[in-house]
Amino acid sequence: MLPEGLFLLLNALLAAGQSRQPLPLNSVISLGPQDGGSNLPLFEVPPAATLTITIAICAPGSSARFFITNNTAGGAPSSSGGPNVAEIPIIQGNGIWSGLFGDGGLLAAENIGQTTFEIATSDQEPLHEVLDAFPLLGDSTSSQAILFSHPILPGPTDLVSTYPNYTLPAANLSAPQAPTLPGNLSLVLLQTTLTPPGSFPQTACMLSSQQPLGNTTDNSLWLKGLEGWRNEWLSVGLEANTNYTAYVIQNATKLSGPLFFVTKSPDFPCQLVHSLPYCPSTAYSVPLPPPPDGALLYDALTLPENITTSVISTLANFTISLTTFACGRDWYSPLMGCSDCQREYRKWLCAVSFPRCGESSAEDPNGVTNTSTSSGQQTIPSALVPQTPFAVPRSPSFPAIPGSYNLLLPCLEVCTAVDRACPNFIQFRCPTRKFNAGASYGVGYVDGADGEEGGGATGVTQDQWGNIWCNGA
Ligand SMILES: *[C@@H]1O[C@H](CO)[C@@H](O)[C@H](O)[C@H]1NC(C)=O
Ligand SMILES: *[C@@H]1O[C@H](CO)[C@@H](O)[C@H](O)[C@H]1NC(C)=O
Ligand SMILES: *[C@@H]1O[C@H](CO)[C@@H](O)[C@H](O)[C@H]1NC(C)=O
Ligand SMILES: *[C@@H]1O[C@H](CO)[C@@H](O)[C@H](O)[C@H]1NC(C)=O
Ligand SMILES: *[C@@H]1O[C@H](CO)[C@@H](O)[C@H](O)[C@H]1NC(C)=O
Ligand SMILES: *[C@@H]1O[C@H](CO)[C@@H](O)[C@H](O)[C@H]1NC(C)=O
Ligand SMILES: *[C@@H]1O[C@H](CO)[C@@H](O)[C@H](O)[C@H]1NC(C)=O
Ligand SMILES: *[C@@H]1O[C@H](CO)[C@@H](O)[C@H](O)[C@H]1NC(C)=O
Ligand SMILES: *[C@@H]1O[C@H](CO)[C@@H](O)[C@H](O)[C@H]1NC(C)=O
Ligand SMILES: *[C@@H]1O[C@H](CO)[C@@H](O)[C@H](O)[C@H]1NC(C)=O
Repeated sequence: MLPEGLFLLLNALLAAGQSRQPLPLNSVISLGPQDGGSNLPLFEVPPAATLTITIAICAPGSSARFFITNNTAGGAPSSSGGPNVAEIPIIQGNGIWSGLFGDGGLLAAENIGQTTFEIATSDQEPLHEVLDAFPLLGDSTSSQAILFSHPILPGPTDLVSTYPNYTLPAANLSAPQAPTLPGNLSLVLLQTTLTPPGSFPQTACMLSSQQPLGNTTDNSLWLKGLEGWRNEWLSVGLEANTNYTAYVIQNATKLSGPLFFVTKSPDFPCQLVHSLPYCPSTAYSVPLPPPPDGALLYDALTLPENITTSVISTLANFTISLTTFACGRDWYSPLMGCSDCQREYRKWLCAVSFPRCGESSAEDPNGVTNTSTSSGQQTIPSALVPQTPFAVPRSPSFPAIPGSYNLLLPCLEVCTAVDRACPNFIQFRCPTRKFNAGASYGVGYVDGADGEEGGGATGVTQDQWGNIWCNGA
């Protein structure tokens, strides 16, 4: 029999003797029921002037709670409080806490149950993060989709050439050398109705455990526009008329998404085109018969030659007149130079030379969607123009195709961008809103009806919910 004093001391030691595990600075640890379940260790927070602690829950249905203190003398922090104890709020599976940990601190978990989770500490930017930037849908067909990550690396800075040695990029651009990706990226596709986003934690570790859907065949960096390098994926083997949710996981800890999109109806007759070095922003469905030799989609090698040569020749002629007449001694505007003009013209030319197919949502036959505006919920149809089978294509180098489809018109802003970037000399004119611009362009989506920038009905050409109102590039 132990003397009472010694017994009490031993008891206190046992209570305080919950095993302790230091959290390594600037790294992620993963824990689950196998690591002790409800007897999880008490975590020691490393000393640092300011520290960000992030938590990611990796399985659905968790009610785990996390308590933190920077007082190392007061025992384990818990739901019963204590000196400087705070609870790290967990929102959609993500917890983040920044504080002063001059002498380090302690972190404890409660109600862990069968939950798997990650804890990370960082004295720089948080290691776990739900990124503000979303993935981007290129376009879908009934069974395929082109998806882009958020911009992950800045593009090359434009060479600003000066008089008299004014060199512009060649009309037949070659694709710039892709940089090496720092870290890794992966795409996760889910069927929205089978796994609604509200039903699981929005964390990278949760999503990496999902079975991949479809077949992601292509995966490479692409410089789509001024926003920088994005990773591009082609997913094939998708189901028609089906809602999908896409996420991009960066370095296994950062999450971008969700992006929603719907695949087209089973008889959608158009084909995807992508990876055109001379039309870098083109990645959508066009009215062409299926590509030759069992190719999945069109690229610079499989496109009919007369389409390619017509685009490149038009752009080459434009570039010649631009450099001959307009790129004089100095820039013709303090903000825009000849390379801006050529770039915007290229984008416009590609948008009008490669007609885009679209489809209204199967759920909403008028292509109607809801956005919140000052007048509340409003329905805004996309700029779709029905085409009958064998209709004479708008772009003369395109063949007539047997199916009926809807053209998705280019956004008028793609045209006005050329007008703004190019010298008057060039005499590039866009149709005015009052006089029939709507016959060739989607009008009033991004810019307002009177041309006020950003004052349109949607403010954007497409959104994260799968709405695409007009062809933005
Ligand atoms: C602990 O946190 C409190 C409140 O944030 C702060 O005032 C205090 O300086 C911190 N203590 C140490 C040692 O960092
Ligand atoms: C003109 O500029 C190009 C590209 O910047 C350069 O390669 C070329 O040598 C220059 N030519 C002259 C004559 O300076
Ligand atoms: C991803 O990891 C690589 C190296 O592992 C690092 O260079 C890069 O900055 C990380 N990216 C992000 C967004 O954390
Ligand atoms: C995925 O695509 C590749 C290349 O097209 C093909 O070889 C492979 O069999 C496909 N896998 C599945 C499961 O469809
Ligand atoms: C797609 O999702 C939307 C919104 O969640 C829903 O209203 C619609 O019924 C779904 N469509 C299909 C084809 O599943
Ligand atoms: C991606 O990076 C993470 C962390 O650096 C690593 O654990 C994971 O295995 C990598 N995944 C692939 C597919 O390389
Ligand atoms: C454009 O360049 C590519 C590769 O550099 C070449 O194969 C192709 O024939 C060129 N196209 C035209 C129309 O000049
Ligand atoms: C480009 O200019 C050449 C020579 O002037 C002309 O033959 C050709 O038809 C022009 N190309 C286009 C697409 O207008
Ligand atoms: C869109 O707006 C219409 C009219 O206000 C409404 O009846 C409909 O339920 C809305 N649809 C969605 C998906 O919010
Ligand atoms: C381009 O080629 C396709 C088939 O190869 C043909 O149907 C179309 O008429 C051609 N267009 C022009 C302008 O030659």
